[in-house]
Amino acid sequence: MSFKSVFIAVFLGTVLIVIALIFNANRPATDTNQPSPDFVRATGKCATCHRRETSAIIHQFERSEHAKHGVSCLDCHRVVDGQEQQAHRGFIIAKHLTAKNCSECHSTEYTQFLRSRHAAPAWAAVYGARDFTAEQIAFAEKYHKGAVERPANRLAIAEGESAINVGCLGCHDIGKPNADGSIGSCTDCHARHSSSVALAREPETCGQCHMGPDHSQLEIYGESKHGVLYNAQRTKMNLTAAPKTLTTADMSVPTCSTCHLSGLDGLNVTHDTTERLSYWLFAAVSDKRPTYQQGQDAMKETCLKCHARSQVEKFYQEAEGVVADTNEKINEAVALMKSLREDGILTDTPFDEPIEFLYFDLWHYYGRTAKHGAFMGGADFVQWHGNYELLLKMTELKQIAEELRENGSEQ
Ligand code: HEC
Ligand code: HEC
Ligand code: HEC
Ligand code: HEC
Ligand code: HEC
Ligand code: HEC
Ligand code: HEC
Ligand code: HEC
Repeated sequence: MSFKSVFIAVFLGTVLIVIALIFNANRPATDTNQPSPDFVRATGKCATCHRRETSAIIHQFERSEHAKHGVSCLDCHRVVDGQEQQAHRGFIIAKHLTAKNCSECHSTEYTQFLRSRHAAPAWAAVYGARDFTAEQIAFAEKYHKGAVERPANRLAIAEGESAINVGCLGCHDIGKPNADGSIGSCTDCHARHSSSVALAREPETCGQCHMGPDHSQLEIYGESKHGVLYNAQRTKMNLTAAPKTLTTADMSVPTCSTCHLSGLDGLNVTHDTTERLSYWLFAAVSDKRPTYQQGQDAMKETCLKCHARSQVEKFYQEAEGVVADTNEKINEAVALMKSLREDGILTDTPFDEPIEFLYFDLWHYYGRTAKHGAFMGGADFVQWHGNYELLLKMTELKQIAEELRENGSEQ
């Protein structure tokens, strides 16, 4: 090693140590063991114990807006109407917390959430209406006709209880009916103790459930211009900005929440994720929603905070074209399956013959993917994961149908 390279190595090493020391000195006070005065005021006895028992919860809570505004542990953990209680170290606390505890202070958000498909319809998509009261069913049906008053899902039944509980409900419990009469979970998006809007604005938070071939929103977003820009510039975004004053200066690139929930530049924040939609894209054949016009206007208003009207109109026109063409393709498959049933070649029971799975994949994976890709800027999903597969599966479907008919006529 030359003198010069030894000198450079020693110099670089010293610089690194100095940087590490500066960095350490700048770490937030919450990372040390000294509780902040705000925090002590807010939490008292619970925290003293729980700093030893479950310290991560304390660290999460300490960073929250709740801690800053003096909301205490007991403000959330206290028993509200209809909840089971337990004695705990000199306190009475609720056995389980639900959306009801949050709604005590955030009734506006709760009411909006109740109107959305994230509430009762999400649970009913798996278990049907059986777990809801007549009143809850009537409320949800007012906003989403047929979304709660329906039988349990046939695929779920075929897969069995453990698949339902750990699988389906791992996502669909966002609309769980709680024992205290409330519905749903706020912590799926905000977490239990950080109660953060920044977290809810991260695409990965929605992507916990909105991913995979049947609803590939996270993947589509990731390849869209929006997703690429966001990932490149996320450290420059002010994700903690208060919703009521969020501007394009805080977030100049949209995430899922910007388009579907946020109050950008004076728009209203909404917890009703249905409010800005115009089609039932999840359906096999996508019809317009009864709220088509107001849904589309509301979403476009968001786009228009960042884009010119002509750009937005062109984008929608093209996406609606993909919906119309996909509908046509799926309708062809629907007619084929119907004729096989009418001719007695297939039973009426779903998911007992292989061709039914092929048909299901056709619309549930590839049809949906093409439509979602078109509306959220994912070219690869419109085409290779969408239309190419639609063409392939349709060809297979026709061939198998023909074979079934030939075998059927031999008997
Ligand atoms: C004297 C110490 C002490 C105090 C005071 C205390 N806790 Fe706890 N808490 C514990 C311990 C110990 C556990 C059990 C941890 C474990 O299971 O590992 C616990 C568990 C819990 C659990 C989980 C209970 C369960 O059954 O799953 C919750 C929730 C909780 N505490 C909330 C609170 C709240 C809210 C307060 C203040 C109103 C509080 N605690 C005050 C020591 C304490
Ligand atoms: C914003 C409301 C909120 C606040 C404030 C809050 N909690 Fe919680 N906490 C929750 C929720 C929701 C759960 C999940 C409970 C459930 O599923 O029944 C929970 C769960 C817990 C658990 C069990 C967690 C586990 O993973 O085992 C403990 C312990 C706990 N909280 C302690 C505290 C303490 C101590 C404080 C104050 C420093 C506090 N909480 C403040 C909402 C809150
Ligand atoms: C005792 C009243 C109270 C309860 C209970 C409560 N909150 Fe809050 N919450 C507040 C206050 C006060 C603020 C801060 C002021 C504001 O933003 O309105 C706040 C702020 C928030 C924010 C905005 C945070 C941010 O980063 O700007 C979220 C999200 C939130 N709460 C979610 C929840 C959830 C989820 C629950 C239930 C698990 C809950 N809250 C329970 C009083 C409460
Ligand atoms: C990874 C999370 C996840 C899992 C696991 C999951 N779903 Fe879903 N499901 C979703 C999401 C997200 C949507 C919304 C899709 C959309 O609108 O594009 C959805 C939509 C649906 C729909 C259409 C909407 C409606 O109300 O009719 C049905 C039905 C459904 N799921 C049933 C099930 C069943 C049954 C299972 C288990 C066999 C299951 N899901 C497993 C996340 C999941
Ligand atoms: C815990 C799982 C979960 C998380 C997290 C989640 N969702 Fe959903 N979402 C669902 C399920 C399940 C459905 C389907 C409900 C139904 O129609 O039955 C859904 C449906 C939707 C719909 C369609 C509503 C309609 O009327 O058809 C939108 C839009 C949506 N979610 C956006 C979001 C956004 C944005 C986020 C993040 C801020 C998010 N979701 C987080 C599970 C989740
Ligand atoms: C640039 C704005 C934008 C972004 C970012 C965005 N979406 Fe969307 N999303 C849309 C539009 C537009 C539609 C179609 C609306 C319609 O039906 O008119 C849509 C449709 C949906 C649907 C379909 C609902 C149905 O009818 O089945 C879901 C679910 C959804 N988005 C979730 C997400 C999630 C999760 C993310 C982030 C990973 C995301 N979106 C990112 C604009 C966006
Ligand atoms: C699908 C994910 C999701 C769910 C579920 C959810 N939130 Fe939110 N919430 C968000 C997002 C995203 C924002 C930030 C909106 C923005 O950027 O303007 C937010 C903002 C908030 C705020 C701040 C509002 C303001 O105007 O300052 C509160 C309070 C809140 N949520 C409470 C709740 C409560 C209570 C529940 C349960 C009833 C809940 N949230 C369920 C995603 C969610
Ligand atoms: C918060 C601001 C914001 C919102 C809201 C938003 N976008 Fe964008 N969008 C951007 C930015 C920034 C770019 C990159 C622009 C550039 O390259 O200069 C972009 C790029 C695009 C592109 C790609 C343009 C290209 O060819 O590079 C399309 C298409 C697009 N947006 C459509 C939409 C639609 C449709 C909506 C509403 C559903 C929407 N955007 C909502 C900020 C936004």
